[in-house]
Amino acid sequence: MFSIRILSLATTALVALVGVSNTQNITSDTFFYGQSPPVYPSPIGTGTGNWSEAYKKAEAMVAQMTLDEKSNLTFGISSKTNGCSGNIPAIERLGFPGLCLQDAGNGVRATDFVNGYPSGLHVGASWNKDLAYKRALAMGGEFRSKGVNIVLGPVVGPLGRVSQGGRNWEGFSNDPYLSGSLVFETVRGIQENGVITSTKHFIGNEQETNRNPITNVAGQYVESISANIDDKSMHELYLWPFQDAVHAGTGNIMCSYNRLNNSHGCANSKTLNGLLKTELGFNGFVVSDWFAQHSGVSSALAGLDMAMPDSEGFWGSNLTTAIRNGSVPMSRLNDMATRIIASWYQMGQDNGYPTPGIGMPVDVLASHKAVNARNPSSKQVILDAAIEGHVLVKNVNNALPLKSPKLLSLFGYDAKAPDQNDPAAGFGSWIAINGTIISGGGSGANSPAYISAPFDALQEKAYQADTTILWDFINVNATANVDGASDACLVFINAFASEGFDRVGLHDDFSDALVNNIADQCSNTIVVIHNAGVRLVDQFIDHPNVTAVIFAHLPGQDSGRALVSLLYGDFSPSGKLPYSVPMNESAFGALLSPALPAAPYTLFPQDDFTEGIYIDYRAFDAQNITPRYEFGFGLSYTTFGYLNLRILARSGVSRNTYPTGLIREGGAEDLWDVITTVTADVKNTGAVDGAEVAQLYVGIPGGPIRQLRGFSKVHIQAGHTATVSFDLTRRDLSVWDVVVQQWKLQSGKYYIYVGTSSRILHLDGTLTI
Ligand SMILES: *[C@@H]1O[C@H](CO)[C@@H](O)[C@H](O)[C@H]1NC(C)=O
Ligand SMILES: *[C@@H]1O[C@H](CO)[C@@H](O)[C@H](O)[C@H]1NC(C)=O
Ligand SMILES: *[C@@H]1O[C@H](CO)[C@@H](O)[C@H](O)[C@H]1NC(C)=O
Ligand SMILES: *[C@@H]1O[C@H](CO)[C@@H](O)[C@H](O)[C@H]1NC(C)=O
Ligand SMILES: *[C@@H]1O[C@H](CO)[C@@H](O)[C@H](O)[C@H]1NC(C)=O
Ligand SMILES: *[C@@H]1O[C@H](CO)[C@@H](O)[C@H](O)[C@H]1NC(C)=O
Ligand SMILES: *[C@@H]1O[C@H](CO)[C@@H](O)[C@H](O)[C@H]1NC(C)=O
Ligand SMILES: *[C@@H]1O[C@H](CO)[C@@H](O)[C@H](O)[C@H]1NC(C)=O
Ligand SMILES: *[C@@H]1O[C@H](CO)[C@@H](O)[C@H](O)[C@H]1NC(C)=O
Ligand SMILES: *[C@@H]1O[C@H](CO)[C@@H](O)[C@H](O)[C@H]1NC(C)=O
Repeated sequence: MFSIRILSLATTALVALVGVSNTQNITSDTFFYGQSPPVYPSPIGTGTGNWSEAYKKAEAMVAQMTLDEKSNLTFGISSKTNGCSGNIPAIERLGFPGLCLQDAGNGVRATDFVNGYPSGLHVGASWNKDLAYKRALAMGGEFRSKGVNIVLGPVVGPLGRVSQGGRNWEGFSNDPYLSGSLVFETVRGIQENGVITSTKHFIGNEQETNRNPITNVAGQYVESISANIDDKSMHELYLWPFQDAVHAGTGNIMCSYNRLNNSHGCANSKTLNGLLKTELGFNGFVVSDWFAQHSGVSSALAGLDMAMPDSEGFWGSNLTTAIRNGSVPMSRLNDMATRIIASWYQMGQDNGYPTPGIGMPVDVLASHKAVNARNPSSKQVILDAAIEGHVLVKNVNNALPLKSPKLLSLFGYDAKAPDQNDPAAGFGSWIAINGTIISGGGSGANSPAYISAPFDALQEKAYQADTTILWDFINVNATANVDGASDACLVFINAFASEGFDRVGLHDDFSDALVNNIADQCSNTIVVIHNAGVRLVDQFIDHPNVTAVIFAHLPGQDSGRALVSLLYGDFSPSGKLPYSVPMNESAFGALLSPALPAAPYTLFPQDDFTEGIYIDYRAFDAQNITPRYEFGFGLSYTTFGYLNLRILARSGVSRNTYPTGLIREGGAEDLWDVITTVTADVKNTGAVDGAEVAQLYVGIPGGPIRQLRGFSKVHIQAGHTATVSFDLTRRDLSVWDVVVQQWKLQSGKYYIYVGTSSRILHLDGTLTI
């Protein structure tokens, strides 16, 4: 009855292809159909939990709509009055003003009078839930002021499986727990302004290469890459942070470009109807990534609710035709419209919300009314968030903080501001040679109100602190310019990444040579790396004159100001790596670089996620690979001691093997029941105040040796002790049971570790369930 091709329910379609010679190219994708299990019909949203009022109002409004009015809600139009990335037209007779959808997760993009916030990866490196919330609250206020109804972010997919992935920096971490905890706070903070978050990209969008269909040099149509993810890895890695976003009430989810088991992300009934709308009980609506819709009837039936930036001929009058001829039931269109309008009511956008797109000029170069979205009260969070995402990984003989330096020599292309305040200035290259980066590039970039580059901030500091600074940002060798009386040499390099392409490497010879050349001539060489992803350091890390290294990530517009406060010791660094840094690319194996089309599937590229849940530290732990800097690692100007691990079983909480709760946003309600609370004391044993990120890892019976399941950032004065507490929920202690299709609490002995990184675990104990 559906006009989609479901030929078989083969669960191992790839195995079924053994007969196919790999010297031939397969030219039909017919045999792939049925590989992604069909889940129909699309669940009709009912408005669970605190969405019930919004649903009642939405159902009432949708009941008054004509077929064309409902249809109009489901696809974008180009606006002549605003420059939003996407627009849904108004239905004026019903008092619905339309919707503006705008980039992106790290600040409002492509307009004026807004701030450039630290990127997702930088927030990940701060490991600070409260700060993530405050950043989101401030950032969300700007989207609201600009009349943006739906912010196209935050990002939790890509998770960061492929080390060279071009968009990994937009998300928080390749660890699902860290990413999930921070996206929860981000969704909450943004939506508290009444702005709808579009948590993206759902799901398996782990590389930029072949993310979209292309025509190859031979003129053949090459499909988008198929992420072939098994059910367990889907739940325990990729879906996990989306689950947190839905639990936080995200009003929108954006489906992705890639295919999953050969079915397009925006027409995949298993992921949209099944995982998202059934299992996670999602009340909101699904929007396509821009041009990610490739079919009309089948995407409607699979659970897509809104196509962007337009119908591309798939919906519009073709959808209404399909409704009239019965290919798409009217109930599906009603559900699309209801989910969209309910999200609008749920955030209170019916009540005093700015006009859609009011602050988004069609052309910022043309004369237009200024709509200031910047709020002076956001200054502190922009600076704090910039400071806390810096990770100090090497600090020999207390090279840092600087101690009243008389003379600093500065080197490197990344020290000064780019000639244009365009965060995407390095587009197409692997380093941004023309200036410092505060964000990656592409649609996830933002529009800083200014850029405090390291050089600017050091100039200002030189004035305040009576430091002499010398600089050479041009010569790679700079032989002539290392003044022999320098107290320190600071070398600034970067590693750029952008939407649209994957990185070509994890380090570059030009920057490495620059560092080594300076180090050859300067006994106190401090390296600052603005990195949009993992950046290797083994090419210079053992140079005896390299005394300190900071991963400075993507700090947003207060970059230099934040860095200088750390260099001069106003604050102690408190960031930790949200990924592992190996000694060599080879440590990543096949997950170093993106999958490429390969015979026999040259026209239907396949990416089998055969590593399962073993990415990043899970893989290094399992394979006994010693990283240069492990996941969770980061130094401080002080030291911390850990003592008194306590593991307290909560009474009165069910320990049944499977959850039994009602499905609410995020899944079964009792997945969030706290089964056990772990506490520990952390003492600042050094001489200065500082913040520590205490981390809890759990060895679940049968699972990887350790997985992050808790973290707590605490500021502790020198000599003082703080108690950190970690709540372990049913989900935290469960594994996905692929047979029963439920989260399963294991019975047996769980290992609990608490410490300062994934490999420096001062305290351990066990928990038996
Ligand atoms: C298969 O496709 C690739 C890429 O399009 C091409 O280089 C190769 O020659 C093709 N092989 C055959 C046997 O057609
Ligand atoms: C993909 O196929 C695997 C193996 O059959 C299955 O476990 C998984 O649920 C499928 N996922 C999707 C989204 O189709
Ligand atoms: C649908 O939207 C278009 C604007 O894109 C508008 O011109 C048209 O009148 C709308 N149709 C209905 C029935 O509201
Ligand atoms: C409907 O689909 C046809 C065939 O795909 C396409 O040519 C046409 O433009 C579509 N109509 C609309 C109104 O989008
Ligand atoms: C119904 O309309 C849709 C959209 O035009 C078309 O793709 C489909 O083939 C039609 N089905 C029937 C049974 O006419
Ligand atoms: C619904 O609950 C969420 C999560 O507790 C909260 O953030 C949000 O403000 C609530 N919304 C409404 C409309 O009550
Ligand atoms: C750097 O600037 C030069 C000159 O303006 C320009 O030609 C080049 O493309 C820029 N390089 C990058 C990587 O942006
Ligand atoms: C200058 O740098 C280049 C490129 O890294 C290197 O080959 C050369 O040896 C350096 N020369 C000196 C004098 O350091
Ligand atoms: C370290 O720097 C000093 C200059 O201060 C230089 O003489 C020495 O050769 C350097 N060491 C190395 C290993 O390059
Ligand atoms: C990384 O491994 C490759 C190949 O195994 C080797 O050529 C290279 O020297 C290694 N790099 C470092 C920094 O060890």
